[in-house]
Amino acid sequence: MYINRKVLTLDEFTIQQLRNFSSATGELSSLLRDIGLASKRINVEVNKAGLVDILGEAGHTNVQGEDVKKLDVFANQQLVGVLKHGISCAGIGSEEIEGVEIFNDEVSNNSKYVCLFDPLDGSSNIDVNVSIGTTFSVYRRLSAVGQPCVEDDFLQPGNKLVAAGYVIYGSSTMFVYATRRGVNGFTLDPSIGEFCLSHPDIQCPSVGTIYSVNHGNFFRFPKGVQQYITACQKRAVMDGGPYSQRYIGSLVADVHRNLIKGGIFMYPSLTDQATGKLRLLYECNPMAFIIERAGGVATDGSQRILDIVPTTLHQRSPFYGGSRDMMEELSGYLTNSDMQ
Ligand code: AHG
Ligand code: MN
Ligand code: MN
Repeated sequence: MYINRKVLTLDEFTIQQLRNFSSATGELSSLLRDIGLASKRINVEVNKAGLVDILGEAGHTNVQGEDVKKLDVFANQQLVGVLKHGISCAGIGSEEIEGVEIFNDEVSNNSKYVCLFDPLDGSSNIDVNVSIGTTFSVYRRLSAVGQPCVEDDFLQPGNKLVAAGYVIYGSSTMFVYATRRGVNGFTLDPSIGEFCLSHPDIQCPSVGTIYSVNHGNFFRFPKGVQQYITACQKRAVMDGGPYSQRYIGSLVADVHRNLIKGGIFMYPSLTDQATGKLRLLYECNPMAFIIERAGGVATDGSQRILDIVPTTLHQRSPFYGGSRDMMEELSGYLTNSDMQ
């Protein structure tokens, strides 16, 4: 067995990209490396999830006498740990933490980025061995470098994102991230513990045959969404239909599949929950940024997700995203006032 040196690792790729920018300091590639590092630790624990019952239940002590933590808490601690001790991040916001965590030490105060994440997305799928993920967003802070960062640094609209990405813990583990320059995917080679460039320059097909939505909520959706879903089901064979419905229940896994194959993902508003379920800062924004950088479209039903100015850290938003032409067809149903 030899190492294929034609394959770029995540580190090599980000450093190579930097060479094109004389002003780049390397802080972003260092931050991506930190997230990659945390995700490798998370991956190891995720792979052992099925052993929890044998080795000890979450919340109890395992046979080695260690505390067994819930995986989302563990994932959160890994990310906070690497970013706090890294050199590029002034503070974090996490789905698992109520307020922001401002690191406030000399190195962190001199860092120019803040980071938001959903440490473990799709966590209800852990118990049944189905793909889960981690999402992250990176903003340049608004507050002055040299000082502790502030909450407003985190409440920026998605159109100010410097980078966003996800890790998917699936049949293989992948790290996918986007910057303004495009979207690239790296698959973990477990034999050397490195993410290797496997999906360069990901482009979302402009049309696909997959629609992803929780059908169980059908009668709580806006009328336009119901009509669109019905149209997907009625599509004639000669028009490439009927579409296939695919819904994993892990946003990362659902979006990843549609990004590669072409398709549309929807988490609409519900009659009893107008903002839907997904969190703007931790889920909608990073996914919308990646989808757009890959050539797709992401909206809340009336405006670009990335243009929403957040007011609180944990606010939710309806989410529709995916292949450009499918999103255009959907918007015809959503903007028709008879169907709202
Ligand atoms: P999390 O595990 O971080 O709470 O997120 C779960 C989210 C998202 O991943 C998924 O798309 C959605 O919940 C599924 O919700 P439903 O079960 O309501 O369809
Ligand atoms: Mn989530
Ligand atoms: Mn989560």
